[in-house]
Amino acid sequence: MEAGLDVPGGNRLREALRLVIVGHVDHGKSTLVGRLFHDTGSLPDGKLEAIRAMCERRGMPFEWAFLMDAFQAERDQGITIDTAQIWFRTPKREYVVIDAPGHREFVKNMITGAASAEAALVMIDAGQGVQQQSRLHGFLLNLLGIRQIAVVVNKMDMVDYSADRFENIRATYAAFLAGIGVAGEQYIPVSARDGDNIVHRSRAMNWYRGPTIVEALDGFRPAPRPTELPLRFPVQDVYKFDNRRILAGRIETGRIGVGDRLLFSPSNKTAIVATIETWNRPGPMVEANAGQSIGITLDHQLFIERGEVASREDHAPIESNVFRGRLFWLGHTPLTAGSQYQLKIGTRETPVTVQQVERVFDPDDLSARLGDAVPRHGVADVILRTMALLAVDEARFLPRTGRFVLTDGHNIVAGGLVSMEGYPDQRDLITKRSSNLHSVEHRVSAVARAVRNGHGGGVLWFTGLSGAGKSTLAMAVEQELFRRGYHVYVLDGDNVRQGLNANLGFSPDDRAENIRRVGQVAALFAQAGLIAITAFISPYRADRQRAREAARELFHEVYVEADLMTCEERDPKGLYKKARSGEIADFTGVSAPYEAPDSPELTVDTQRQAVDDCVGEIVAYVERHFAAGKGKDIQKP
Ligand code: ADX
Repeated sequence: MEAGLDVPGGNRLREALRLVIVGHVDHGKSTLVGRLFHDTGSLPDGKLEAIRAMCERRGMPFEWAFLMDAFQAERDQGITIDTAQIWFRTPKREYVVIDAPGHREFVKNMITGAASAEAALVMIDAGQGVQQQSRLHGFLLNLLGIRQIAVVVNKMDMVDYSADRFENIRATYAAFLAGIGVAGEQYIPVSARDGDNIVHRSRAMNWYRGPTIVEALDGFRPAPRPTELPLRFPVQDVYKFDNRRILAGRIETGRIGVGDRLLFSPSNKTAIVATIETWNRPGPMVEANAGQSIGITLDHQLFIERGEVASREDHAPIESNVFRGRLFWLGHTPLTAGSQYQLKIGTRETPVTVQQVERVFDPDDLSARLGDAVPRHGVADVILRTMALLAVDEARFLPRTGRFVLTDGHNIVAGGLVSMEGYPDQRDLITKRSSNLHSVEHRVSAVARAVRNGHGGGVLWFTGLSGAGKSTLAMAVEQELFRRGYHVYVLDGDNVRQGLNANLGFSPDDRAENIRRVGQVAALFAQAGLIAITAFISPYRADRQRAREAARELFHEVYVEADLMTCEERDPKGLYKKARSGEIADFTGVSAPYEAPDSPELTVDTQRQAVDDCVGEIVAYVERHFAAGKGKDIQKP
C-alpha cells in the first residue's frame, strides 16, 4: 500500500478532501487518527510493526495514539514532505488531516488561509458528554463556515455501548448546534481504541444504523477545484516591452484562453486576450489555468495597474469601498474603530479605516459580545472602509480572493474573510451602458433661474433611521419654505417607492439603486432651480457621496438624528415590531446597516429638539444659503 506520508503533496492536495479533527485533548483524537490510518490501510509498510516493537522494548502497552506521536516526531525532524498535513485514503478518495494544535492556531490558520478545511470531525467523550470545549468547537466551525460536520461520540466501550447515552449526547449537542444555526450534522458512536464504527461496523452496537466514520467522510462533498471556479486573475505587475504591455500575475481561480473577453475591476474596463506568455515554457500558449503564473497581452491598450482583477463579465467580483471582515487579530494593541491600516487583498494594497467593530468573539470562551476593542488573538466582525472602490469576493464563495490581510508598517496585524452581508455591489451604480452620447447645453443659466425664482436651486438631503422624523420634518420644512416664497418639493421614500422606484425592494443592491435614482432626480430639480428635499433612509455613505457628486456644490446633507432605541419606541408605522418578530427582513438598524454621516452640513437632533425647533433650524439654514444673492451657487456666472 502506498504510504500515507511519503507521497509528494503537490498533486494530491487538490484531490484530497481536507479534514480537521477537533476535540478535547483526551477525547481520543490521536487514537482515532491512528485507527483511521490503520483501518483504511493507509499506513506505510512496517510502521505499525515498528511501533509495536518499540512498545515492547520499553515495556509499554501499545496505543494507537503512538502512531500520531510518531508522525509528529517525523514532522519535527523534517522527514515528511508536507509539514502541516498527514494523509489517509479510502477506496473513494484521499484525505488530508489538517493539524490543529490548538483552537487558536486553527482559527488563525483558517482565517489567514494557511490551512483550509472542507469538513470536520468533532470528538465527544461518551463518558464525559458535551462539555464547554465541545460547544466551543462547534461554535468555531460555524464561525469559519465549515458546514460538513460529523460528531464522533467516542469511548462507547466505556459506557457499555449504551444507546441511551449516545442518544442523550446527540440530543444535547444537536440542540446546541441548532441554537447557533448549524444543521445537518451526523452523529456516530465509536470506540476508536477497538476500531468500532470507524471502517468496520461495530458488533457491540447493533442498535446503530447510521454510517461509519469512513462512510460519513466519503459522503462529504469536496470543495470545487480552483480551475472550476470563476476566473480571478489579480494583476501583479505591468511590463512594457517594445510597444506591448504585458499584464503579469497568477491565476487564482478559473482559466484564461486567448480570445476571451476579460473584465478588469475596479476600473470596469474590458478587452480581449491577444496572447498568453509564460516564462519557463517555449512558444505561445492558448490557455492557462488556476495556479499558473502568466503574462497576457490585450487586443487594445488599457490603462491597467497592479491590483486590478481580471474576470469574465458574467462572473465578476463585487465592487465596493465598504465591507464586513471577520478577522483574527494579531496586533499587540487592541483593534479599535477609527484606526487605519494598510489593506492587502489579492495584489491590491490600499489604506483602510476600521469604521466599526461590530462583535468581538472571546478567544478563550465562546462568548460573542458587542465590543469596541479586539484583544490580541481575538476574532471580531468589523466594517472596513477604503477611499477607492476595490474588487472583492465573498469568502464563502471564493475563499482565495475573499481573504484579506491588514498590515501596520511591516507587521501583519490581522487576517480576515470578506462578507458583503448588508452591503451592495456598487458596480452597477458606476457602470455606464450607453455610448455615443453628446451633452447638450442649456441656454438658460443657473443665475437667470435664480434671479427669477428669488433663490438658488439645491438639494437638502435628509438621512436617518426609519422613524427619526425625516418625512415629518421634510413636509413641515416644505410648507414653511413655500410660505416664504421658495420653489420647493419633497421627494419622500415611501412615495417615490410607489412610482419611479416601484420595482425596487430593500435588498442592499435595491437600496443603492433607489438612492442612485433619487440622487440623480434631486440633482435635476436643483439644476432646474428648485429646492429638492429628499427624505430617504439612504443608509450607505457611498450612495450619499454619489448623490453629492451628482448635485455637486448644490448638495446639503442634513442628518436627522435619533438613536435606534428612540426610533423603535416611536415606531410610527409598527415596522420595528414586525422587524423584531422577523416578519420584515433587512430592516434598517435591526437587520440591515445604517451608516451615519461623518460630516453633514447640518444635524438636527429629534430626540432632544421639538419638531418646530428642528424646522426652524433647517429653514434658517436655507435662508442663509439659498436666499437670492447669498447662495454659493448664484455667485457663479
Ligand atoms: S432606503 O434605505 O432605500 O433609503 P427608503 O427611505 O427609500 O429606504 O424607504 C424607507 C421606508 O420604507 C421606511 O420609512 C419604511 O416605511 C419602509 N420600509 C419597508 N421595509 C423596510 C425595510 N426593510 N427597511 C427600512 N424601511 C422599510
